Amino acid sequence: MLHQALLLAGLILASYLLRRHSPRVYDAIILHMTSLWYSTVIDALPEGSKVLDVGMGTGTSLLSCRKEIEEKHLRITGVDFTEVYVQAATAKFKEAGADAFLSCKYGSVYDEELLASLAPRSLFDAVYFSGSIALLPDPAAALRGACKVLKKGGAVYVTQTFQHLSFPGLSVIKPCVKYITTIDFGELVMEKDILRVYASVAEELELVRHEKIEGSVDNALQKAYVSVLRKIR
Ligand SMILES: C[S@@+](CC[C@H](N)C(=O)[O-])C[C@H]1O[C@@H](n2cnc3c(N)ncnc32)[C@H](O)[C@@H]1O
Repeated sequence: MLHQALLLAGLILASYLLRRHSPRVYDAIILHMTSLWYSTVIDALPEGSKVLDVGMGTGTSLLSCRKEIEEKHLRITGVDFTEVYVQAATAKFKEAGADAFLSCKYGSVYDEELLASLAPRSLFDAVYFSGSIALLPDPAAALRGACKVLKKGGAVYVTQTFQHLSFPGLSVIKPCVKYITTIDFGELVMEKDILRVYASVAEELELVRHEKIEGSVDNALQKAYVSVLRKIR
């Protein structure tokens, strides 16, 4: 009985600490992977681009590319649905003296008014989903929503791991990992499923690139990809 009570108390304490420090937990687990993803996309962005980052997270991956962002005169605005990540990102940008060109607002990609308010004078040159598309319940609607605040000829960039193989139970286990780590890794998205999503928005967004990210996740189960979709009308 005492053992069980101690175990329960330990679990409650661990869960409290993980939640309290969730931005740090997030950075410790995700950063090494998504920093490479951000640098891949930032390399591809035209100089002077105004960018919307959907699901920016804590902003740490973005800050790891600060030199390139400043050299290319990029202005990046994020939107994220997890308030503590937005607070962490905002504080980090200010502390780093990067808040003139990096910012993050709390809210959802499905909030059209919010997205429009982020582009009051001119539309975005690019919209970026880094690790966020797999978390969204309706990725096609998110891509269409992003398209409304994107200039004609502008591009949507997606970086994400997509599944090639699965095993029984994985599609149930993956969404549950957030209850242990506080990080939502989203649903299991097979590569063929995301290609179907891209095909469903092809009237507005033409898929011009879909390839593996060199040096990132690449195993029998899943691989990391960068996809680029160009706004055609
Ligand atoms: C795996 S994290 C990726 C964070 C960051 N882009 C990176 O690559 O390091 C996914 C992010 O998407 C955010 N997110 C989930 N649903 C969202 C929504 N509906 N609108 C905006 N952001 C959302 C989560 O809060 C989380 O911060």
